[in-house]
Amino acid sequence: MKTVLQCKEISKTYGSGQIQVQALKKCSLEFTQGEFAAIVGKSGSGKSTLLKILGTLDTPDEGEVLLDGESVLHLSDKRLSKIRRRKIGFIYQDYSLFPEYTAYENIIMPIHLDGRKEHKEHVLEVLETLGISGCKDKFPSEMSGGEQQRTAIARALCISPAVILADEPTGNLDAGNANEVVMLMSKAARLYSQTILMVTHDRQMADYADRILVIADGSIG
Ligand SMILES: Nc1ncnc2c1ncn2[C@@H]1O[C@H](COP(=O)(O)OP(=O)(O)OP(=O)(O)O)[C@@H](O)[C@H]1O
Ligand SMILES: [Mg+2]
Repeated sequence: MKTVLQCKEISKTYGSGQIQVQALKKCSLEFTQGEFAAIVGKSGSGKSTLLKILGTLDTPDEGEVLLDGESVLHLSDKRLSKIRRRKIGFIYQDYSLFPEYTAYENIIMPIHLDGRKEHKEHVLEVLETLGISGCKDKFPSEMSGGEQQRTAIARALCISPAVILADEPTGNLDAGNANEVVMLMSKAARLYSQTILMVTHDRQMADYADRILVIADGSIG
């Protein structure tokens, strides 16, 4: 299986002097194409720090991050923004949709920002897969939380990135919607051979993943 994302011995310390926090301690991980992996750990264990570093939004003090075989540290800002647009899909707890655009417009926006044109048939198929065809022309304010998060998942999937990074994607959802959303992420990973990395503190959500990684006090168990 092709390795799409890898980190080697990454460490990260925040702050300086007396108030230092070692958020990550020599973490090494490898993710293969089509894998749906969950990273679980208590609050403050380093989950978001790890995801930010894997997503090139932050840099480690030590170690290496490889995306599609390319080291993403020490790249120019221009190259990094291109990688973020094309190779990484982000899903956040708060959905992060643009309120003045419809679901469809939200989904195609990153593709257009990357100077490409969307394949309408593919977008419609993804909407169908996620069970939100009826939301296509709705604005975020007209959708439920679960529908908004499924729109955010569709947006990430339609970029066809090397990896989708989801930080607590079910954090704002009730139990029923949370289960549904994670089940759909698992289905999408299989159907589209899409690598998805989900951070959660909810062990039950992690059970849907192909692999569960536990992080405690900045170290992967
Ligand atoms: N920008 C920052 N400046 C200083 N300390 C930080 C910063 N970001 C995170 N930390 C600290 O690093 C540690 C790991 O934080 P992180 O956000 O990765 O945890 P988390 O596992 O995502 O927690 P949660 O489940 O609450 O989201 C914590 O002790 C946190 O206080
Ligand atoms: Mg976090």
